[in-house]
Amino acid sequence: MNTVSQTKAKQIRLKRDDLFKNPYGLYKRLRERGSIYKGSILKQPGWFVTGYKETAHILKDPSFFTRIPLPESTEKYSHLKQIQSKMMLYMNQEDHRKLRLLVNKGFTPKQIAGFRPLIEEVVDFLLDELIVKEEFDVVSDFAFPLTSLVIATILGVLEEDRETFRDWAALLLQSIDFSRSHKTLEASDQLAEELSEYFSSLIVKKRAEPGDDLISLLIIENDCTEDELISTFILLVIAGHETTVNLISNTIHSFLKHPEQWEVLKRNPSLAGYAIEEVLRFESPTQLTARVAMKDTEVAGKHITCGEQLYLMLGAANRDPDVFDEPDEFLITRKQVPHLSFGLGAHFCLGSTLARLEAQIALSQFSKRVHTYNQTKAEIKWRPLTGFRALEELRITVQTSN
Ligand code: HEM
Repeated sequence: MNTVSQTKAKQIRLKRDDLFKNPYGLYKRLRERGSIYKGSILKQPGWFVTGYKETAHILKDPSFFTRIPLPESTEKYSHLKQIQSKMMLYMNQEDHRKLRLLVNKGFTPKQIAGFRPLIEEVVDFLLDELIVKEEFDVVSDFAFPLTSLVIATILGVLEEDRETFRDWAALLLQSIDFSRSHKTLEASDQLAEELSEYFSSLIVKKRAEPGDDLISLLIIENDCTEDELISTFILLVIAGHETTVNLISNTIHSFLKHPEQWEVLKRNPSLAGYAIEEVLRFESPTQLTARVAMKDTEVAGKHITCGEQLYLMLGAANRDPDVFDEPDEFLITRKQVPHLSFGLGAHFCLGSTLARLEAQIALSQFSKRVHTYNQTKAEIKWRPLTGFRALEELRITVQTSN
Protein backbone atom coordinates (compact mmCIF):
# COMPACT_ATOMS: atom_id res chain seq x y z
CA MET A 1 0.00 0.00 0.00
CA ASN A 2 1.24 3.53 -0.73
CA THR A 3 2.17 5.78 2.13
CA VAL A 4 0.99 9.42 1.99
CA SER A 5 4.51 10.61 1.17
CA GLN A 6 4.84 8.09 -1.65
CA THR A 7 1.52 9.27 -3.11
CA LYS A 8 2.68 12.88 -2.87
CA ALA A 9 5.93 12.01 -4.59
CA LYS A 10 3.90 10.57 -7.45
CA GLN A 11 2.08 13.86 -8.13
CA ILE A 12 3.41 15.83 -11.07
CA ARG A 13 4.37 19.32 -10.08
CA LEU A 14 3.93 22.11 -12.56
CA LYS A 15 6.14 25.15 -12.82
CA ARG A 16 4.14 28.27 -13.66
CA ASP A 17 5.34 28.51 -17.22
CA ASP A 18 5.74 24.78 -18.00
CA LEU A 19 2.60 24.72 -20.05
CA PHE A 20 3.41 27.57 -22.37
CA LYS A 21 7.24 27.73 -22.48
CA ASN A 22 7.76 24.09 -23.23
CA PRO A 23 4.58 22.06 -22.86
CA TYR A 24 6.26 19.08 -24.54
CA GLY A 25 8.48 18.45 -21.51
CA LEU A 26 5.39 18.29 -19.31
CA TYR A 27 3.60 15.99 -21.76
CA LYS A 28 6.58 13.64 -21.64
CA ARG A 29 6.49 13.53 -17.85
CA LEU A 30 2.75 12.91 -17.94
CA ARG A 31 3.11 10.16 -20.54
CA GLU A 32 5.60 8.39 -18.29
CA ARG A 33 2.67 7.93 -15.86
CA GLY A 34 0.48 6.35 -18.54
CA SER A 35 -1.86 7.64 -21.20
CA ILE A 36 -4.21 9.11 -18.59
CA TYR A 37 -3.21 10.60 -15.23
CA LYS A 38 -5.27 12.06 -12.39
CA GLY A 39 -3.92 15.20 -10.81
CA SER A 40 -4.27 18.87 -9.93
CA ILE A 41 -2.00 20.43 -12.52
CA LEU A 42 -4.57 23.08 -13.46
CA LYS A 43 -6.87 25.01 -11.12
CA GLN A 44 -9.59 22.38 -11.32
CA PRO A 45 -8.37 18.82 -10.73
CA GLY A 46 -9.09 16.19 -13.34
CA TRP A 47 -7.74 13.51 -15.62
CA PHE A 48 -4.93 14.54 -17.95
CA VAL A 49 -5.10 12.54 -21.16
CA THR A 50 -1.95 12.32 -23.29
CA GLY A 51 -2.64 9.12 -25.28
CA TYR A 52 -3.80 9.52 -28.87
CA LYS A 53 -6.19 6.55 -28.78
CA GLU A 54 -7.81 7.69 -25.54
CA THR A 55 -8.11 11.34 -26.67
CA ALA A 56 -9.74 10.31 -29.95
CA HIS A 57 -12.12 7.96 -28.11
CA ILE A 58 -13.25 10.65 -25.63
CA LEU A 59 -13.71 13.27 -28.37
CA LYS A 60 -15.94 10.90 -30.35
CA ASP A 61 -17.97 9.52 -27.42
CA PRO A 62 -21.11 11.66 -26.83
CA SER A 63 -21.30 10.52 -23.20
CA PHE A 64 -18.49 12.99 -22.53
CA PHE A 65 -19.96 16.48 -22.62
CA THR A 66 -18.34 19.83 -23.21
CA ARG A 67 -19.26 22.52 -20.73
CA ILE A 68 -18.66 26.22 -20.26
CA PRO A 69 -15.23 26.80 -18.78
CA LEU A 70 -16.43 29.14 -16.04
CA PRO A 71 -16.86 27.82 -12.50
CA GLU A 72 -20.60 27.14 -12.37
CA SER A 73 -20.91 28.04 -8.71
CA THR A 74 -20.04 31.72 -9.02
CA GLU A 75 -22.73 34.38 -9.42
CA LYS A 76 -20.21 36.69 -11.05
CA TYR A 77 -19.47 37.18 -14.77
CA SER A 78 -23.09 36.80 -15.79
CA HIS A 79 -22.64 38.40 -19.23
CA LEU A 80 -19.73 36.17 -20.08
CA LYS A 81 -21.53 33.11 -18.81
CA GLN A 82 -24.63 33.96 -20.79
CA ILE A 83 -22.60 34.31 -23.98
CA GLN A 84 -20.54 31.18 -23.42
CA SER A 85 -23.62 29.10 -22.64
CA LYS A 86 -24.98 29.80 -26.14
CA MET A 87 -21.71 29.08 -27.96
CA MET A 88 -21.91 25.80 -29.88
CA LEU A 89 -18.48 24.90 -28.51
CA TYR A 90 -20.10 24.49 -25.07
CA MET A 91 -23.42 23.01 -26.17
CA ASN A 92 -24.29 19.33 -26.30
CA GLN A 93 -26.56 16.92 -28.12
CA GLU A 94 -29.65 18.33 -29.87
CA ASP A 95 -29.03 22.02 -29.00
CA HIS A 96 -25.52 21.70 -30.41
CA ARG A 97 -26.59 19.80 -33.52
CA LYS A 98 -29.24 22.35 -34.44
CA LEU A 99 -26.95 25.36 -34.19
CA ARG A 100 -24.01 23.61 -35.83
CA LEU A 101 -26.11 22.58 -38.86
CA LEU A 102 -27.25 26.14 -39.28
CA VAL A 103 -23.81 27.78 -39.06
CA ASN A 104 -22.35 25.08 -41.34
CA LYS A 105 -24.33 26.69 -44.14
CA GLY A 106 -21.81 29.52 -44.16
CA PHE A 107 -18.78 27.19 -44.16
CA THR A 108 -19.37 24.75 -47.02
CA PRO A 109 -16.21 23.74 -48.93
CA LYS A 110 -17.58 25.61 -51.99
CA GLN A 111 -18.06 28.84 -50.01
CA ILE A 112 -14.62 28.57 -48.44
CA ALA A 113 -13.00 27.87 -51.84
CA GLY A 114 -14.66 31.09 -53.01
CA PHE A 115 -12.37 32.99 -50.62
CA ARG A 116 -9.20 31.81 -52.38
CA PRO A 117 -8.85 34.88 -54.67
CA LEU A 118 -9.36 37.25 -51.71
CA ILE A 119 -6.82 35.40 -49.56
CA GLU A 120 -4.26 35.31 -52.40
CA GLU A 121 -4.73 38.99 -53.05
CA VAL A 122 -4.35 39.95 -49.37
CA VAL A 123 -1.27 37.75 -48.88
CA ASP A 124 0.36 39.25 -51.98
CA PHE A 125 -0.48 42.76 -50.89
CA LEU A 126 0.94 42.19 -47.40
CA LEU A 127 4.12 40.54 -48.69
CA ASP A 128 4.70 43.39 -51.19
CA GLU A 129 4.81 45.76 -48.24
CA LEU A 130 6.66 43.56 -45.76
CA ILE A 131 9.55 42.05 -47.68
CA VAL A 132 11.04 45.45 -48.44
CA LYS A 133 11.06 46.38 -44.75
CA GLU A 134 14.16 46.03 -42.63
CA GLU A 135 12.25 43.82 -40.25
CA PHE A 136 8.65 42.97 -39.41
CA ASP A 137 6.57 41.02 -36.95
CA VAL A 138 5.05 37.89 -38.49
CA VAL A 139 2.26 37.83 -35.89
CA SER A 140 0.92 41.38 -36.05
CA ASP A 141 2.08 42.50 -39.52
CA PHE A 142 1.35 39.37 -41.55
CA ALA A 143 -0.79 36.69 -39.88
CA PHE A 144 -3.18 38.97 -38.06
CA PRO A 145 -4.17 41.38 -40.88
CA LEU A 146 -4.81 38.41 -43.16
CA THR A 147 -7.01 36.37 -40.81
CA SER A 148 -8.76 39.47 -39.51
CA LEU A 149 -9.79 40.64 -42.95
CA VAL A 150 -11.00 37.18 -43.95
CA ILE A 151 -13.20 36.58 -40.90
CA ALA A 152 -14.54 40.15 -40.99
CA THR A 153 -15.46 39.64 -44.66
CA ILE A 154 -17.16 36.31 -43.93
CA LEU A 155 -19.17 37.80 -41.09
CA GLY A 156 -19.86 41.08 -42.87
CA VAL A 157 -18.42 43.31 -40.16
CA LEU A 158 -18.13 46.98 -40.97
CA GLU A 159 -14.66 48.01 -42.07
CA GLU A 160 -14.24 50.70 -39.43
CA ASP A 161 -14.79 48.16 -36.64
CA ARG A 162 -12.19 45.62 -37.77
CA GLU A 163 -9.22 47.04 -35.90
CA THR A 164 -10.94 46.68 -32.54
CA PHE A 165 -11.53 43.00 -33.23
CA ARG A 166 -8.00 42.04 -32.40
CA ASP A 167 -8.14 43.29 -28.82
CA TRP A 168 -11.56 41.72 -28.34
CA ALA A 169 -10.42 38.38 -29.68
CA ALA A 170 -7.25 38.34 -27.55
CA LEU A 171 -9.13 39.10 -24.33
CA LEU A 172 -11.93 36.66 -25.03
CA LEU A 173 -9.43 33.92 -25.82
CA GLN A 174 -7.86 34.45 -22.40
CA SER A 175 -11.29 34.15 -20.83
CA ILE A 176 -11.74 30.62 -22.21
CA ASP A 177 -8.17 29.57 -21.43
CA PHE A 178 -7.60 27.45 -18.34
CA SER A 179 -5.10 30.01 -17.04
CA ARG A 180 -7.74 32.77 -16.79
CA SER A 181 -7.46 35.11 -13.81
CA HIS A 182 -10.26 37.00 -12.07
CA LYS A 183 -8.93 40.21 -13.60
CA THR A 184 -9.28 38.69 -17.09
CA LEU A 185 -12.74 37.41 -16.31
CA GLU A 186 -13.89 40.79 -15.04
CA ALA A 187 -12.60 42.57 -18.15
CA SER A 188 -14.08 39.87 -20.41
CA ASP A 189 -17.43 40.10 -18.65
CA GLN A 190 -17.58 43.81 -19.39
CA LEU A 191 -16.50 43.22 -22.96
CA ALA A 192 -19.13 40.49 -23.34
CA GLU A 193 -21.80 43.05 -22.46
CA GLU A 194 -20.41 45.57 -24.96
CA LEU A 195 -20.14 42.93 -27.67
CA SER A 196 -23.72 41.81 -27.16
CA GLU A 197 -24.82 45.39 -27.71
CA TYR A 198 -22.53 45.75 -30.72
CA PHE A 199 -23.83 42.61 -32.44
CA SER A 200 -27.46 43.40 -31.50
CA SER A 201 -27.25 46.68 -33.33
CA LEU A 202 -25.40 45.06 -36.26
CA ILE A 203 -28.22 42.50 -36.50
CA VAL A 204 -30.74 45.36 -36.70
CA LYS A 205 -28.71 46.99 -39.51
CA LYS A 206 -28.35 43.71 -41.44
CA ARG A 207 -32.01 42.89 -41.01
CA ALA A 208 -32.88 46.20 -42.66
CA GLU A 209 -30.19 45.88 -45.32
CA PRO A 210 -28.95 42.31 -45.73
CA GLY A 211 -25.64 41.72 -47.47
CA ASP A 212 -23.85 38.72 -48.95
CA ASP A 213 -22.40 37.62 -45.61
CA LEU A 214 -22.83 35.11 -42.77
CA ILE A 215 -24.60 37.47 -40.38
CA SER A 216 -27.23 38.24 -43.04
CA LEU A 217 -27.53 34.55 -43.99
CA LEU A 218 -28.21 33.45 -40.42
CA ILE A 219 -30.72 36.26 -39.87
CA ILE A 220 -32.59 35.31 -43.05
CA GLU A 221 -32.62 31.61 -42.06
CA ASN A 222 -34.39 32.77 -38.88
CA ASP A 223 -33.73 29.44 -37.21
CA CYS A 224 -32.04 30.41 -33.97
CA THR A 225 -32.52 32.89 -31.15
CA GLU A 226 -30.83 36.28 -31.05
CA ASP A 227 -28.73 35.09 -28.09
CA GLU A 228 -27.48 32.13 -30.12
CA LEU A 229 -26.68 34.40 -33.05
CA ILE A 230 -24.69 36.81 -30.87
CA SER A 231 -22.74 34.00 -29.18
CA THR A 232 -21.98 32.43 -32.56
CA PHE A 233 -20.60 35.67 -33.96
CA ILE A 234 -18.44 36.17 -30.88
CA LEU A 235 -17.15 32.58 -31.10
CA LEU A 236 -16.28 33.10 -34.75
CA VAL A 237 -14.45 36.34 -33.96
CA ILE A 238 -12.28 34.48 -31.42
CA ALA A 239 -11.76 31.33 -33.52
CA GLY A 240 -11.32 33.17 -36.79
CA HIS A 241 -8.62 35.43 -35.38
CA GLU A 242 -6.68 33.64 -32.78
CA THR A 243 -6.12 30.06 -33.89
CA THR A 244 -5.31 30.78 -37.53
CA VAL A 245 -2.94 33.62 -36.61
CA ASN A 246 -1.15 31.09 -34.45
CA LEU A 247 -1.06 28.46 -37.18
CA ILE A 248 0.56 30.88 -39.63
CA SER A 249 3.01 32.25 -37.05
CA ASN A 250 3.89 28.77 -35.76
CA THR A 251 4.55 27.72 -39.36
CA ILE A 252 7.07 30.49 -39.98
CA HIS A 253 8.60 29.80 -36.56
CA SER A 254 8.89 26.02 -37.13
CA PHE A 255 10.78 26.52 -40.39
CA LEU A 256 13.03 29.05 -38.69
CA LYS A 257 13.99 26.40 -36.17
CA HIS A 258 14.37 23.71 -38.87
CA PRO A 259 16.26 25.31 -41.78
CA GLU A 260 16.84 21.92 -43.42
CA GLN A 261 13.04 21.56 -43.76
CA TRP A 262 12.89 25.05 -45.27
CA GLU A 263 15.35 23.82 -47.89
CA VAL A 264 13.14 20.79 -48.56
CA LEU A 265 10.13 23.06 -49.08
CA LYS A 266 12.07 25.46 -51.31
CA ARG A 267 13.12 22.55 -53.51
CA ASN A 268 9.60 21.12 -53.60
CA PRO A 269 6.89 23.81 -53.18
CA SER A 270 4.13 21.23 -53.65
CA LEU A 271 4.84 20.11 -50.07
CA ALA A 272 3.20 23.27 -48.65
CA GLY A 273 -0.05 21.44 -47.83
CA TYR A 274 1.81 18.60 -46.05
CA ALA A 275 3.92 21.16 -44.23
CA ILE A 276 0.82 22.82 -42.77
CA GLU A 277 -0.45 19.42 -41.55
CA GLU A 278 2.92 18.82 -39.92
CA VAL A 279 2.86 22.23 -38.20
CA LEU A 280 -0.65 21.44 -36.96
CA ARG A 281 0.72 18.24 -35.45
CA PHE A 282 4.05 19.59 -34.22
CA GLU A 283 2.98 23.00 -32.80
CA SER A 284 -0.79 22.71 -32.62
CA PRO A 285 -2.42 26.14 -32.12
CA THR A 286 -4.93 24.43 -29.79
CA GLN A 287 -3.07 22.36 -27.21
CA LEU A 288 -5.84 21.47 -24.83
CA THR A 289 -9.58 20.99 -24.63
CA ALA A 290 -11.78 19.52 -21.93
CA ARG A 291 -14.72 17.22 -21.43
CA VAL A 292 -16.77 16.06 -18.47
CA ALA A 293 -17.89 12.45 -17.96
CA MET A 294 -21.70 12.18 -17.86
CA LYS A 295 -21.65 8.64 -16.47
CA ASP A 296 -19.24 6.33 -14.65
CA THR A 297 -16.95 4.78 -17.22
CA GLU A 298 -13.48 3.41 -17.89
CA VAL A 299 -10.64 4.82 -19.96
CA ALA A 300 -7.35 2.94 -20.37
CA GLY A 301 -8.25 0.76 -17.38
CA LYS A 302 -8.91 3.75 -15.10
CA HIS A 303 -12.29 4.30 -13.47
CA ILE A 304 -13.76 7.72 -14.31
CA THR A 305 -16.59 8.87 -12.06
CA CYS A 306 -19.60 10.73 -13.47
CA GLY A 307 -18.95 14.49 -13.20
CA GLU A 308 -15.16 14.26 -13.38
CA GLN A 309 -13.30 16.57 -15.72
CA LEU A 310 -10.93 15.30 -18.41
CA TYR A 311 -8.24 17.50 -19.96
CA LEU A 312 -7.45 16.32 -23.46
CA MET A 313 -3.89 17.33 -24.29
CA LEU A 314 -4.17 17.53 -28.09
CA GLY A 315 -0.55 18.65 -28.37
CA ALA A 316 0.53 15.51 -26.49
CA ALA A 317 -1.71 13.14 -28.47
CA ASN A 318 -0.12 14.59 -31.61
CA ARG A 319 3.26 13.37 -30.37
CA ASP A 320 2.17 9.93 -29.19
CA PRO A 321 5.01 7.56 -30.21
CA ASP A 322 2.50 4.74 -30.71
CA VAL A 323 1.03 6.67 -33.65
CA PHE A 324 3.82 8.88 -35.01
CA ASP A 325 7.38 7.83 -35.85
CA GLU A 326 9.96 10.24 -34.44
CA PRO A 327 7.18 12.32 -32.89
CA ASP A 328 9.44 15.14 -31.69
CA GLU A 329 10.88 15.73 -35.16
CA PHE A 330 9.44 18.33 -37.53
CA LEU A 331 9.29 16.52 -40.90
CA ILE A 332 7.24 17.99 -43.72
CA THR A 333 7.61 14.88 -45.87
CA ARG A 334 5.29 12.82 -43.64
CA LYS A 335 2.48 11.57 -45.84
CA GLN A 336 0.14 10.53 -43.05
CA VAL A 337 -0.49 13.12 -40.36
CA PRO A 338 -3.71 12.14 -38.57
CA HIS A 339 -3.30 14.87 -35.92
CA LEU A 340 -6.08 15.83 -33.53
CA SER A 341 -5.48 19.58 -33.75
CA PHE A 342 -8.98 20.30 -35.03
CA GLY A 343 -10.58 17.89 -32.56
CA LEU A 344 -12.86 15.03 -33.67
CA GLY A 345 -16.50 14.02 -33.50
CA ALA A 346 -19.46 16.37 -33.10
CA HIS A 347 -17.33 19.42 -32.26
CA PHE A 348 -14.74 18.92 -35.00
CA CYS A 349 -13.53 22.40 -35.95
CA LEU A 350 -16.03 24.19 -38.14
CA GLY A 351 -13.30 26.41 -39.61
CA SER A 352 -10.69 23.75 -40.47
CA THR A 353 -11.04 24.14 -44.26
CA LEU A 354 -10.73 27.90 -43.97
CA ALA A 355 -7.76 27.73 -41.60
CA ARG A 356 -5.96 25.27 -43.89
CA LEU A 357 -6.63 27.40 -46.96
CA GLU A 358 -5.33 30.59 -45.34
CA ALA A 359 -2.23 28.91 -43.95
CA GLN A 360 -1.39 27.07 -47.19
CA ILE A 361 -1.68 30.21 -49.29
CA ALA A 362 0.33 32.21 -46.74
CA LEU A 363 3.13 29.62 -46.67
CA SER A 364 3.18 29.01 -50.44
CA GLN A 365 3.49 32.69 -51.27
CA PHE A 366 5.93 33.41 -48.45
CA SER A 367 8.20 30.56 -49.56
CA LYS A 368 8.00 31.64 -53.21
CA ARG A 369 9.13 35.16 -52.45
CA VAL A 370 11.47 34.67 -49.52
CA HIS A 371 14.82 32.98 -50.00
CA THR A 372 15.91 32.89 -46.36
CA TYR A 373 14.86 34.67 -43.18
CA ASN A 374 16.20 35.24 -39.70
CA GLN A 375 14.85 36.05 -36.32
CA THR A 376 15.91 39.51 -35.10
CA LYS A 377 15.30 38.91 -31.39
CA ALA A 378 17.17 36.10 -29.70
CA GLU A 379 14.34 35.24 -27.32
CA ILE A 380 11.00 33.89 -28.45
CA LYS A 381 8.08 34.73 -26.19
CA TRP A 382 4.99 32.52 -26.02
CA ARG A 383 1.77 34.01 -24.66
CA PRO A 384 1.02 32.73 -21.16
CA LEU A 385 -1.90 30.53 -22.24
CA THR A 386 -2.28 26.90 -21.30
CA GLY A 387 -4.70 25.80 -24.01
CA PHE A 388 -3.13 27.54 -26.98
CA ARG A 389 0.33 27.64 -28.55
CA ALA A 390 0.57 31.32 -29.40
CA LEU A 391 3.61 33.47 -30.09
CA GLU A 392 3.63 36.94 -28.58
CA GLU A 393 5.62 38.20 -31.57
CA LEU A 394 8.07 36.90 -34.15
CA ARG A 395 10.29 39.60 -35.60
CA ILE A 396 12.19 38.62 -38.72
CA THR A 397 14.33 40.01 -41.56
CA VAL A 398 14.00 38.42 -44.98
CA GLN A 399 16.25 37.94 -48.00
CA THR A 400 14.08 37.79 -51.10
CA SER A 401 14.26 35.12 -53.79
CA ASN A 402 15.28 37.46 -56.61
C1 HEM B 1 -5.58 26.56 -37.09
C2 HEM B 1 -6.72 27.02 -36.80
C3 HEM B 1 -7.72 26.35 -35.93
C4 HEM B 1 -7.56 25.36 -34.98
C5 HEM B 1 -6.28 24.65 -34.55
C6 HEM B 1 -8.87 25.09 -34.42
C7 HEM B 1 -9.12 24.13 -33.45
C8 HEM B 1 -10.36 23.75 -33.04
C9 HEM B 1 -10.65 22.67 -32.13
C10 HEM B 1 -9.62 21.75 -31.48
C11 HEM B 1 -11.99 22.61 -31.96
C12 HEM B 1 -12.76 21.57 -31.13
C13 HEM B 1 -12.78 21.92 -29.67
C14 HEM B 1 -13.43 20.83 -28.85
O1 HEM B 1 -13.87 19.79 -29.39
O2 HEM B 1 -13.51 21.01 -27.62
C15 HEM B 1 -12.56 23.68 -32.73
C16 HEM B 1 -13.89 23.96 -32.78
C17 HEM B 1 -14.38 25.04 -33.46
N1 HEM B 1 -13.70 25.87 -34.33
FE1 HEM B 1 -11.76 25.82 -34.77
N2 HEM B 1 -9.77 25.91 -35.02
C18 HEM B 1 -9.11 26.68 -35.95
C19 HEM B 1 -9.66 27.62 -36.79
C20 HEM B 1 -10.96 27.97 -36.82
C21 HEM B 1 -11.55 28.96 -37.67
C22 HEM B 1 -10.80 29.77 -38.73
C23 HEM B 1 -12.86 29.02 -37.35
C24 HEM B 1 -13.96 29.86 -37.91
C25 HEM B 1 -13.84 30.89 -38.65
C26 HEM B 1 -13.11 28.05 -36.32
C27 HEM B 1 -14.33 27.81 -35.71
C28 HEM B 1 -14.58 26.81 -34.80
C29 HEM B 1 -15.89 26.58 -34.22
C30 HEM B 1 -17.16 27.38 -34.46
C31 HEM B 1 -15.76 25.47 -33.38
C32 HEM B 1 -16.86 24.82 -32.53
C33 HEM B 1 -17.45 23.69 -33.30
C34 HEM B 1 -18.51 22.95 -32.50
O3 HEM B 1 -18.58 23.10 -31.27
O4 HEM B 1 -19.29 22.24 -33.14
N3 HEM B 1 -11.93 27.43 -36.01
N4 HEM B 1 -11.56 24.36 -33.40
